[in-house]
Amino acid sequence: MYKSKITGLGMYVPERIVKNDELTQYMDTNDAWIRERTGIEERHWVNPGDGNTTSKMGTEAAKIAIERAGLTPQDIDMIVFATLSPDYYFPGSGVLVQEQLGCNTIPALDVRNQCSGFVYALATADQFIKTGMYKNILVIGSEVQSTGLDLSTRGRGIAVIFGDGAGALVLSRNEDNDDSDILSNHLHSEGKYAKELTNLVPGGIHPPRELVEEWPIDDLSYYPYMNGNFVFKHAVVRFPEAIMEGLQANNLTPQDINLLVPHQANLRISQFVQKRLGMKDEQIMNNIQKYGNTTAASIPIALTEAWEQGRIKRGDLVVLAAFGSGFTWGSNIIRF
Ligand code: COA
Repeated sequence: MYKSKITGLGMYVPERIVKNDELTQYMDTNDAWIRERTGIEERHWVNPGDGNTTSKMGTEAAKIAIERAGLTPQDIDMIVFATLSPDYYFPGSGVLVQEQLGCNTIPALDVRNQCSGFVYALATADQFIKTGMYKNILVIGSEVQSTGLDLSTRGRGIAVIFGDGAGALVLSRNEDNDDSDILSNHLHSEGKYAKELTNLVPGGIHPPRELVEEWPIDDLSYYPYMNGNFVFKHAVVRFPEAIMEGLQANNLTPQDINLLVPHQANLRISQFVQKRLGMKDEQIMNNIQKYGNTTAASIPIALTEAWEQGRIKRGDLVVLAAFGSGFTWGSNIIRF
């Protein structure tokens, strides 16, 4: 078995910054409510026509990660792409990145696990490195969510939370004879709650033809739906569970963590998790204030920013954890 090492990190967000106050132009909301309930102050949204798509933003983040790894796109052996907002219904966005980067005809795999997407994607890449099948794998999380939101007051419970952006990392075979590795991955799902956080339409059950020909005008199922309170209550249980499961498997405790990088769902959720695990402020990365919830992109964006700020060094114990639609949840325990 080989060890896995994160050799490069990158992120990309669209230029346009949408402050909470701007949202009051579209819906009945206010800065104080959004800050108090979510911690969010602003988020980045694509501008129609600015060329930012999910795959293109993923490609931009990937270019930075590949360069920082000291590699070229031709050195990449596989792409794992996590998103809930792909450019197309099919094919997936991974193949678009393969083309945009000019990689060889390597495999490209899309992961559909929403807020847990990056944790699942990294766990998947880790298996291919550990078995020796591949040496350098590009793992991307990218989302354009703003264009699919209901920006009227009806959709305010969701629209104020989500942001656009991309993050990427290169996971390489550790050939440096050091301790860097992904120590464990723990992944879970509970499909009985699929409809508590979902975008039902269009899909196989309600295909586009039905939408065009016979969809009732007052059925808004083509917008995302979230049972906010219900999701919140599950998130604050599953986050600590997934983190403790990973730590215990490695005989570690929350005090051993140098940096916890949770999926940026809601600042209140992260604060709750921090308190539950008895962790100090400097042990947890929060940047939802600036980006909102960018779903599969939130962990690689936060990880990249933490690394750029010097908050992660080689040998540190870094823990990633996520919870989201599915429901799905999980953790990666990393010796960086
Ligand atoms: N601006 C102003 N008021 C708003 C609002 C907004 N954007 N959105 C909702 N409200 C109102 C509601 O209409 C409600 O009013 P009422 O009491 O008159 O009916 C009130 O605020 C409280 O709404 P509620 O939904 O109970 O608020 P909340 O405290 O649960 O916060 C979320 C809502 C969405 C922020 C919270 O439930 C949450 O963060 N859930 C988890 C989200 C998440 O993590 N999702 C991603 C998956 S990980």
